[in-house]
Amino acid sequence: MANILLGVSGSIAAYRACDVARELMRQGHRVQVVMTRAATRLISPDTFAALTGNPVTVDVFDEPVAGEIAHIKLAQVSDLVLIAPATAHTIARLTLGLADDMLTTLALATRAPILIAPAMNPTMWSHPATQAHVQTLRARGVEFIDPTYGVMACGDEGWGKIADTPVIVQAVQQRLCRAHDLQGVHVLITAGPTYEPIDPVRFIGNRSSGKMGYALAEAALAHGARVTLITGPTALTPPAGAEVVPVRTALQMYEAVQERFDACDVFIAAAAVADYRPERALRRKHKRTEGDWTIRLVPNPDILASVATRKGQRIVVGFAAETDKALQHAAQKLKRKNLDLIAVNDVLEAGSGFEVDTNRLTLLYADGRVEELPQMSKRACAERVIEAVVERLTPARGE
Ligand code: CTP
Repeated sequence: MANILLGVSGSIAAYRACDVARELMRQGHRVQVVMTRAATRLISPDTFAALTGNPVTVDVFDEPVAGEIAHIKLAQVSDLVLIAPATAHTIARLTLGLADDMLTTLALATRAPILIAPAMNPTMWSHPATQAHVQTLRARGVEFIDPTYGVMACGDEGWGKIADTPVIVQAVQQRLCRAHDLQGVHVLITAGPTYEPIDPVRFIGNRSSGKMGYALAEAALAHGARVTLITGPTALTPPAGAEVVPVRTALQMYEAVQERFDACDVFIAAAAVADYRPERALRRKHKRTEGDWTIRLVPNPDILASVATRKGQRIVVGFAAETDKALQHAAQKLKRKNLDLIAVNDVLEAGSGFEVDTNRLTLLYADGRVEELPQMSKRACAERVIEAVVERLTPARGE
């Protein structure tokens, strides 16, 4: 049984939210409805109050329980926020992070997963503004229950009808299951590049943006894990809820991992660790007038291999960014580094690798299985890697 916050916005499909609320309650969930002002013109809050047995709020200053700040309390007790139907306007407000009514304020204040079932005219749904908003929200981990094809109330035909009630309810159930499958599991992730200092102003680095590692942290959090993210320098905002350990050099990352590995259940090495560092970093800036310059590089320790040798019951996942014979090299690394899984991509391929938001991964498992994933967002790739971890962890936990 879960506490579900059902947000209803002002689409003609608002009446469908009654069915959704009833079906969720039939499955044993507690449903609390929050409506936008526009929705109250289409269906009365009293209908939802009678159906759910809970007061309905609209305004952010509505406080049904005296002395309780409703938007904070509701945000904290909800296990999942479902917005069905969601209008183009509500989607836009959520994208911008506006907090101008109870629903949008709650969406900002909650850490619960958010599911959105849009309903609108097909031209509005396909409009680049709406689609850009959907993409932004997806990148933040919000999930969409896509609208279906049909004839709208206005007579137009196309994609924009709210999904059927069983589809919405099933999406909620699946999301609730996923939200807990890494409960109690500590996932340690390395992300981003490392910078190896040459002198106080120069360093050797690489083109890693950290996006894949941060997406993995987001996905693991969405599955209920406790996440520690050891990150090299990136321009990204770490996901809320992760413990963040910022480092700069490979040696610092090595130390940070050694200190935390024993306490983790899953280790995912997504960082692009510099394999070499200058033998010594100069204390003063090297001047151009000094002529030719030779820098002697010495190897950095292999962080992943160093901990994987003592992994015990832990699941250890590596990444391999290759430029040639990708699968062959990755298979060798899987074995050599004692991994359960390695995710490999060809960085020379368009839409795969550094800086971009997409990736095309192939997963190689220790049992020899090979799983080729299509090109997808790094967040979707991360989701699949985390699912693979869950599949591996379940037998190990004796469930
Ligand atoms: N890795 C690591 N520490 C290093 C180098 C790599 O933890 N010093 C990890 C990466 O985070 C990645 C995996 O090992 O998960 C493979 O990294 P990659 O650079 O492809 O492997 P290398 O062993 O460095 O092999 P090469 O550079 O020769 O391809």
